[in-house]
Amino acid sequence: MATQQSDSLITTEVSSSQTGRSAAPDETVISSTDLDVFYDADKALDDVSIEIPEHKVTAIIGPSGCGKSTFLRCINRMNDQIPACEVDGELHFHGTNVYDPQVDPVALRRKIGMVFQKPNPFPKSIYENVAYGLRVQGKEVTDELVEDALRNAALWDEVKDQLDESGLDLSGGQQQRLCIARAIAPDPEVVLMDEPTSALDPVAASKIEDLIDELVEEYTVIIVTHNMQQAARISDKTAVFLTGGKLVEFDDTQTVFENPAHDRVEDYITGKFG
Ligand SMILES: Nc1ncnc2c1ncn2[C@@H]1O[C@H](COP(=O)(O)OP(=O)(O)OP(=O)(O)O)[C@@H](O)[C@H]1O
Ligand SMILES: [Mg+2]
Repeated sequence: MATQQSDSLITTEVSSSQTGRSAAPDETVISSTDLDVFYDADKALDDVSIEIPEHKVTAIIGPSGCGKSTFLRCINRMNDQIPACEVDGELHFHGTNVYDPQVDPVALRRKIGMVFQKPNPFPKSIYENVAYGLRVQGKEVTDELVEDALRNAALWDEVKDQLDESGLDLSGGQQQRLCIARAIAPDPEVVLMDEPTSALDPVAASKIEDLIDELVEEYTVIIVTHNMQQAARISDKTAVFLTGGKLVEFDDTQTVFENPAHDRVEDYITGKFG
């Protein structure tokens, strides 16, 4: 299986039978071993080892600058686009080191999509925003696939009569769901979300939280959030990064919030710093 995965990331066309989605629910989908990340001489992640389970929501929390976004960007090699950034160590997706020179980052990003803090639809129609998500990954655009993605992003009912209107004319919360539709259109396995609700009002944020709850049936979700209540509400696992880019604690969310193993984690969670 590991060989198949390895092959699958080297080409852009991957059949879903190769993805291991039918694996046991607690299978590890992403793991890192002694991962260090530098921006020039500055270390942003220090010796991070973690195993992220499939079909769960994993929350990443920690104070500003502790490396949460850096870690998220490592997973689908978005850091490749930052010249100063250097990754040292291994990060595996289904057992394949994503930093293996033979891995094609485009194929990787088809499997591991991303949603950002600020909704960033393209200045195109709603339909074209989702179609882009298909096209960029080499998939044929069909009305059915566009509709499926919009339905899965809980947006279809709100936009089905205005598919030709600009994505930029939607509300902030709708724009973020459009970005989620764009990210899931190519049918990835993992969806990375970097503070996806922090620019939204509470009602829109709550819709995204409900959506994440549904998405995890089909995808693995890894979400960075500064909102402790949100992490506690929506995640199965919580990873706590603290200053210096260290992963200090990673456990079931309930354990992290009710009985953390480290005093520093308790101080952070209870708002004593950060
Ligand atoms: N493109 C970059 N170039 C240089 N240094 C960077 C870059 N991006 C991040 N850093 C540095 O790496 C460290 C980790 O940053 P990162 O953005 O990953 O933190 P974060 O935990 O996501 O913070 P926040 O909660 O504020 O979003 C910080 O010291 C930051 O200044
Ligand atoms: Mg960040």
